[in-house]
Amino acid sequence: MAGSKKIRKIGILTGGGDCPGLNAVIRAIVRKGIDKYGYDMVGIKRGYAGLLERDVSPLDLRSASGILHRGGTILGTSRTNPFKMEAGEEKIKDSFKKLGLDALIAIGGEDTLGVANKISKMGLNIIGVPKTIDNDLSATDFTFGFDTAINIVTDAIDRLHTTAESHDRVMVVEVMGRHAGWIATYGGMAGGADIILIPEEPFDIDEVCNLIKKRHKRGKNFSIVVVAEGAKPKDIKKFVTKDESIDAFGHIKLGGIGEALSKEIEKRTEFETRAVVLGHIQRGGSPTAFDRVLGTRYGIAAIDLVAQGKFGMMPSLQGNKIVAVKLEKAVAKLKTVDKDIYDIAKVFFG
Ligand code: F6P
Repeated sequence: MAGSKKIRKIGILTGGGDCPGLNAVIRAIVRKGIDKYGYDMVGIKRGYAGLLERDVSPLDLRSASGILHRGGTILGTSRTNPFKMEAGEEKIKDSFKKLGLDALIAIGGEDTLGVANKISKMGLNIIGVPKTIDNDLSATDFTFGFDTAINIVTDAIDRLHTTAESHDRVMVVEVMGRHAGWIATYGGMAGGADIILIPEEPFDIDEVCNLIKKRHKRGKNFSIVVVAEGAKPKDIKKFVTKDESIDAFGHIKLGGIGEALSKEIEKRTEFETRAVVLGHIQRGGSPTAFDRVLGTRYGIAAIDLVAQGKFGMMPSLQGNKIVAVKLEKAVAKLKTVDKDIYDIAKVFFG
């Protein structure tokens, strides 16, 4: 039965897209896992790919120190879905056995934690940690990585403001976030964007152009439009994608709406318009202080859950408290942008 055996050896993996703060979580888990609980810790390379291939290396106090400020993940990551592999379930069980794992801590977003939830249902000991710049996981107020991403977006908008103003241009800034508009809403609000378009509210291109024209009429000869990669016009069914490919979790590769929108705005308003895609810059570099602290709190809570034998759970942030929730709850549905916060952003449109 999950949780009944004495815990000695724990694996840690990071899955899905990387994001700043992953190393803070790893550091916290290893530090308390060894110092307080005397566990044997092992790092699993490249997410679930490394679990299936049993590609691991020991994690000790030395290898997990000096990494708090570093972006990315010292373990590497991948978007491997073990349940899409032939005999995936058997291979997972086999790896747990051969590696001698008594528990696994999986740090990731909806895909990685969706797999973790299935692994938990197989009766194996697993804990999840909520990571993603997209902030689209349910049952937690914030995922780590999000704060860093919105700070990068804010800084980028500040920079685009000055050049937009000098040239009397419209700047369309495409940001990540997949099918949720959290990065666009928070980054756009913090950067003082004049229009923010998110997947949750399909937009009307005429309305967007009228808002820009209205601004120009009041003497503002430049505009900043933030568009989430998953946003689309009301009358168009398909998302704008980079290509037709789909990953192991069924995700399309979003991207290109910024350029398309920019062309349309220029055509309809006759204002010079440029598109900027922030892309993976939003996932790179050092984590903010908030993400370092949140990642550290999540890591400590995760190893405590292991020690308490509370498997199938995930530490979450609720208000300012770290609360354990069932993995099931976290992956049940995508957390989209609250109408209340988007309504506040809208006050500053145009
Ligand atoms: O989920 C994080 C994220 O950065 C999304 O915002 C984005 O759509 C996607 O990953 C990009 O994935 P990749 O790194 O595989 O291009």
